[in-house]
This record gives sequence, structure tokens and C-alpha cells, in this order.
Amino acid sequence: MTERLTIRRPDDWHVHLRDGAMLETVARYTARQFGRAIVMPNLAPPVTSVEAATAYRERILAALPEGSDFTPLMTCYLTDRADGGNIVDGYRQGVFAACKLYPANATTNSAAGVTDIRNLYPVLEAMQAAGMPLLIHGEVTSRDIDIFDREAVFIERTLSGLVRDFPALKVVLEHITTADAADFVTAQGPNVAATITPHHLHINRNALFEGGLRPHAYCLPVAKRERHRLAVRRAATSGSPKFFLGTDSAPHTHEAKESACGCAGIFNAPYALESYAMAFEEDGVLDRLEGFASEHGPRFYGLPLNEGTVTLERVETSVPDRVADDRLVPFHAGQTLPWRFVG
Ligand code: NCD
Ligand code: ZN
Repeated sequence: MTERLTIRRPDDWHVHLRDGAMLETVARYTARQFGRAIVMPNLAPPVTSVEAATAYRERILAALPEGSDFTPLMTCYLTDRADGGNIVDGYRQGVFAACKLYPANATTNSAAGVTDIRNLYPVLEAMQAAGMPLLIHGEVTSRDIDIFDREAVFIERTLSGLVRDFPALKVVLEHITTADAADFVTAQGPNVAATITPHHLHINRNALFEGGLRPHAYCLPVAKRERHRLAVRRAATSGSPKFFLGTDSAPHTHEAKESACGCAGIFNAPYALESYAMAFEEDGVLDRLEGFASEHGPRFYGLPLNEGTVTLERVETSVPDRVADDRLVPFHAGQTLPWRFVG
């Protein structure tokens, strides 16, 4: 049995670092395990301009522990009024690494999201020409569509048309949760990829109701049936360069989660790599973790691979019920994981 696993330093291609006090609290967890991260722009108000992204990047850098060399990669939140010229300038200047598309009201802080993808066609045209990636929260929001079907219906109603109309646009379908998404991405060319979270490798929708209502298992897109979890897991562990690590770590205080209307989001940053390693090992492909965590993402984004390495050792690790001065409940709270991140 492998006792120590050393891989090239990984990156997180989808994370919520928040702002203010929460940013101060959570930045260290992501910076400890990852070299870079694609930082989501769903602040209130959202990050929609080069100026806002530059200022937010400075706040993230200021929140990092002394001596950290973590690099935040900034994203632009698309609205119906997004200006393609401006956005692509921001990409060429190296401020934006990508744009994020939230269908209006799909998730936390997405009220300013896009109401009709057709409003974005000029922006997408400019992004396609510049090679700038489009990151998609792939869920329809109509109340008549069952919440467990929203990803599959988004693929059918929106995404298939989008990849047909923009065949060269770099697209990342974020945090996939269904066999439909895994199959769709697999069937596209190399310019269409997907991120996969640790929680969607481990939990199915039963986790939301195990012995009672479980707010800490609630995120969006919501976990699906077991057959979907298995399909997502096969995609992650397949070795295909189309699938890469994106934690979707999304902290909310425990009070905001344990409420009559609990927020969506799972905070997995503290034990993210341990969680992925556990899944890859259970499937007998620990040797594929490095590609998924450290190589496929940068290659898709056209960025260099990280230089350093990180090591995990086989030491049983108890995940505490709370972290960050008892304010946050981490994913796997109360469980024992077989790996420990050493650094
Ligand atoms: C995210 C958040 O809280 O910002 N929540 C979540 O459940 N993943 C938003 C998102 O990525 O949908
Ligand atoms: Zn997210």
C-alpha cells in the first residue's frame, strides 16, 4: 500500500473565497493546499469589472498568511449588460482568467445573473475569438423544473445550443452532478471540460435526509441519485483531461446553514485533497489523482503547471465538527479520513 503520495502542487479551479471577515477566515485553507485557484465572483455586489476584480485580488492577497505564494485567478461575473470589449481587455491584461455565467437566481448571490443567454452572444463571440474560457453554473431556474433535473434540462435547453453556436469557445461546465453532464462533456471536443467537487464524489441525495434534515450536505447543484454519483466519479477517475479538480468550497456560517432557510454551499477547503485522494484510492486509481488535481486544469486554461509538490501521508485524520473558531462546519465533519495533507 502507498504510504506517502507526492504529487505536483494542485490547483482549485472553482472556489468561493468570499470577502471581509469570511475571506480572512477561509483564504488560508485554500492557500495551504493549492497553488492557484479560480475565484468565483458572486460577491454582493458581484465582480463585474476589471477595477472590481483588481481590488478583490488585492484583498485576497492581503488575507493570505505571511509568506504564502498562492495565486488567485480572477473571474468576471456576466450580467445581461456585460461588455465584451471590456471583458476581453481584462483577459488580455491578465486580470481576468475567465468569465462566469450564472443563470439569474440559480444560486447564492446570482440575482444579477443572465436572464437569456442570447443577450450574451456578442460577449461570447469576443471571448471565443480571444480564447477566454466561459465557466457555467449549469442549471435552469424555472420553478416548474424539478430541482434534481435542473442540470440535465440546462444541458438540453441551453448548453447544447451554446456549444453548437460557439464551436471553438472554451467552456467549463462547473461542479457537474449528473451522468447527463459527464456524458455531454465527454462527447464534446477538447474545448469543453468540467470541474468536479469532492462532495459530489462522496455523497448522493440521501445524504440530505440521513436520519433528519442535513443542511451541511446541501449545495447547488444539489447531490443527485447514486447512479449519477457513480457516473461523476467515473468521469473524475477516468484519466480524461476534460475533467479536473474544482472544490466549489462555499463557506456559510453554521447559523446560516442551520436555519429555516439554510444557505446552499459545502465548505470543503480544509480537507479537500484528502477527500479526493480517498475517492481515487477507493476506485483503485490513486495514480490518476495527479492528472486530475494538477495537470488537466492548467492544460485546459493554457497555464503552466505548478513547479512544487505536495505530500499526503497515510495517517488517519479526524475531521473536527467545527473549524475556524467554531464558525464553520467542514465537509466530512466527525469522520475519519485515511490521508493527511502534510504540505
Ligand atoms: C455557492 C455559494 O454559496 O456561493 N453555493 C453552492 O451551493 N455551491 C454558489 C454556487 O456555486 O452555486
Ligand atoms: Zn460555486
